[in-house]
Amino acid sequence: MRIYKEKDYDAMSRRAASIIAAQVILKPDCVLGLATGSSPIGAYKRLAKQYQKGKLDFSAVRTVNLDEYKGLGAGDEQSYITFMNENLFSKINIAKENTNVPNGLNKDAAAECARYDKVIEGMGGIDLQLLGIGNNGHIGFNEPADSFADGTHMVTLTEGTREANARFFASLDEVPTAAYTMGVGSIMRAKMILLIASGKAKAQAVKDTVSGPVTPQVPASVLQLHPNVVLVGDEEALSLL
Ligand code: F6R
Repeated sequence: MRIYKEKDYDAMSRRAASIIAAQVILKPDCVLGLATGSSPIGAYKRLAKQYQKGKLDFSAVRTVNLDEYKGLGAGDEQSYITFMNENLFSKINIAKENTNVPNGLNKDAAAECARYDKVIEGMGGIDLQLLGIGNNGHIGFNEPADSFADGTHMVTLTEGTREANARFFASLDEVPTAAYTMGVGSIMRAKMILLIASGKAKAQAVKDTVSGPVTPQVPASVLQLHPNVVLVGDEEALSLL
């Protein structure tokens, strides 16, 4: 694992954006695995700026997002598809049909998860997977569990995760209790993984990820087994390393 310690959120975002930009320049038709949440917003802003300056071209890029809340879709302000449209897709020249997010409105979990696995497979693999990390070490919405899940599956969100994400909703009650998420296996099959972390609340999870035992109780710890992981964190997130 290569680790970049950056001063703050802005510097972390700059570094992460430059790694993603390099991937797009080196392979214009690459497959990017994308994340939502607070961590990647700064990097997405920088990528959009670089596109606007004519330095990046996303016309051949395809994307596959990690996860979506069950029950939310494009019409919902808090859905991850809305997040992606607002924070990145509407600001770059990516073709809508080249972007993929699990369909949270599909009530048939088994069908939706099987469909999403086919989408990932059909893309021929992910070149670069961007990940944030939960305070409990989750990646995507793979919460601490007794085993690592391979493919896309439905998860029940932990209370801690719902509380952490409540800031995006009017109240905790409105945070969905379930989500569809790419599995740890799909994440691990990406050629390169870019893990970003910012803030004190992530420090313990980052420490456990980098130097703790590999265990599904800390899902991100599995990244120790991946040959090409870059961790970009700010000083607070890396303070326990
Ligand atoms: C989001 C995702 C989650 C977040 C994690 C950190 O698509 O898969 O694993 O990356 O919960 O969230 P933030 O960045 O909001 O702290």
